[in-house]
Amino acid sequence: MTQSELGLNMSTLVGAGGETTASALTALFYYLHLPQNHEKLDRLRNEISTTCKDVAGVNGDTTAGMPYLKACIDEILRLFPPVPVGMVRTLLQDTVVGGTVIPAKVSPIDIRQELQTDEDDRRTSP
Ligand code: HEM
Repeated sequence: MTQSELGLNMSTLVGAGGETTASALTALFYYLHLPQNHEKLDRLRNEISTTCKDVAGVNGDTTAGMPYLKACIDEILRLFPPVPVGMVRTLLQDTVVGGTVIPAKVSPIDIRQELQTDEDDRRTSP
């Protein structure tokens, strides 16, 4: 890889991976610190501290054995998807989605936060 290709790849990875991950973690900590979720925060803390003795013990193998952590991450990605609206693509041919024909050349867009949540989920104030 040339220096220029390396730089371009790095900016893609940092750009695509930085804000998304930061947004997901910010939302996760926000929700866990709401008074009604303190029990869940304690449960998560307990799972992490019983699985790993210290920070050095946190790695892919140990986190794979943390089902509650995985559930928390899945749930925050459902409630607060860092990319809340799908990337637009244009259909090359008529396409049937759930029994509905979407004609060629249309650019459907999924509003995934809307699809994944209901009104109560989207009420963010404590
Ligand atoms: C919570 C974390 C993340 C979320 C929610 C997320 C979400 C997404 C979404 C929605 C897309 C677009 C998919 C599409 O084309 O429709 C995407 C693409 C991409 N993401 Fe992420 N992402 C996350 C983390 C990361 C990380 C950590 C990296 C890299 C270190 C990364 C690298 C990329 C790249 C390179 C693409 C473009 C893939 C392509 O060529 O089509 N993402 N991501």
